[in-house]
Amino acid sequence: MGHKRSWHTAVVHFTVTVIMITMVISYVHASVNVGTTSAEASSSSNATNVYPRNSDIHHIQRSDVEEALDIIDAAWSRSLGDDCVSTVGYKSLPVALDPKRFDDSRRKIDMSAIMLQNLGSMGHTNNLLDAVARSILTSITNAVATRVIILNASTNIIIDETWMKRTLDVMEEPVKLESDTLRVGYRPYEGFPWFQIANDTNSHLRSAKFKQPFAADSYRGWWTFPYLSCKTHQWLMSYNIYVRKADYPHSTTLDYLSVDIDISGLEINQCDLSASKSSDDVDETFNNQMESFRGSHKCDKDTTQCEYRGQANRKKSDIYQLSVAPGWVKGAYICRCRIGFYSVDATNTIGNEPPGFDGTLVEAAWTEMRSNKSDLYHKVFKCIKCAIGCVTCKGPEPCLATYNWPFREKIPKFRILYKGIEIQLLLKFEID
Ligand SMILES: *[C@@H]1O[C@H](CO)[C@@H](O)[C@H](O)[C@H]1NC(C)=O
Ligand SMILES: *[C@@H]1O[C@H](CO)[C@@H](O)[C@H](O)[C@H]1NC(C)=O
Ligand SMILES: *[C@@H]1O[C@H](CO)[C@@H](O)[C@H](O)[C@H]1NC(C)=O
Ligand SMILES: *[C@@H]1O[C@H](CO)[C@@H](O)[C@H](O)[C@H]1NC(C)=O
Repeated sequence: MGHKRSWHTAVVHFTVTVIMITMVISYVHASVNVGTTSAEASSSSNATNVYPRNSDIHHIQRSDVEEALDIIDAAWSRSLGDDCVSTVGYKSLPVALDPKRFDDSRRKIDMSAIMLQNLGSMGHTNNLLDAVARSILTSITNAVATRVIILNASTNIIIDETWMKRTLDVMEEPVKLESDTLRVGYRPYEGFPWFQIANDTNSHLRSAKFKQPFAADSYRGWWTFPYLSCKTHQWLMSYNIYVRKADYPHSTTLDYLSVDIDISGLEINQCDLSASKSSDDVDETFNNQMESFRGSHKCDKDTTQCEYRGQANRKKSDIYQLSVAPGWVKGAYICRCRIGFYSVDATNTIGNEPPGFDGTLVEAAWTEMRSNKSDLYHKVFKCIKCAIGCVTCKGPEPCLATYNWPFREKIPKFRILYKGIEIQLLLKFEID
């Protein structure tokens, strides 16, 4: 009988031990998961770099965005030399900007065009052209230059023109500009980003220089792509209208109205749209930011998170003092380690903030990686997962033993539970 009982006891002991181990393992799993799910959840979005494709941005190509970023970088470091010379002092970006933010300005320019149209051939006194140009300049926010050009409709030779400019931030009257590139008796220079000879009788400007308007838009004119004026170092965008005369098609002249808007005050935020804060402050904060560049950061999406460093959050020394466009800079972000990841290489640790990599360095490494020059990008700019059981960490040390107090407290409870079950089962067999 004693022999049988000890056999029973062994079986019960074995079963209970298996139950016990299973429980402990599942508990460890559960407690470890608490530490990692938050990091996994935030990185569960598509790991590929997908550019925003909302209805505002047409067919935006990643290669175009990269090219634009390179131009912006060269403009920032003033190394656009040859480009600026070969394009008569202008350098266009291959990426369009949603012109919706300039709708108020656009309406005013459209209205001036209607006025010129209704004046017909009467409107060809130079004083009147000056007055139109001046009123546009002074009534439109950030308008820095206006041109009104009267062209011979059959030869495109300039019959009359006025080109006015003003300096923002200075309470200064607009001044008239004389330029060799825009002279009576000649055709306008076609290298201007803002000019294109109309090729058909309807004056439709299907040119690569202009952003194709949306079907729903009823603009009278055409927006250019953003471009840099090498001379003034301003980023500009122009709105241009071919004004058809009221007496068209008998009119032998065409009016061309062109207005430059200074967009140097905009900012390049390369972080993902979803990485932003609440949707409430979207309008306020993003008013200033160009949507085309969203999602073009080079942070490792699995282990780091892009954090925009706006002008306000940047170090003074980082902002080139003479720059008129401090927001037009590539790499103005930090790739911060995600929760549950650490890096001993990363800098920019302020207080308790997780470490991060400077976006400028990440961009440079990415460029080198793309041109097969180095693999630093893959080696350095990633964070490392914390040891099992750590919610956060500053290094590879395990933190299970030190920090997981709830888990440690559970162990004696398991032991008591285990003993209880064992005793009950043994008693049951004893009675049998
Ligand atoms: C993104 O994720 C969704 C599901 O979460 C998937 O259907 C889609 O194919 C993914 N896209 C890419 C580009 O990976
Ligand atoms: C336009 O040019 C043609 C050809 O040179 C000329 O005959 C015509 O008079 C010009 N029209 C105007 C309005 O100057
Ligand atoms: C006008 O544009 C069409 C295509 O858009 C082109 O084939 C044609 O040669 C152009 N005409 C002139 C005079 O430039
Ligand atoms: C880099 O190397 C890959 C494969 O070796 C090659 O396909 C690619 O063209 C190279 N890129 C450059 C810019 O040299």
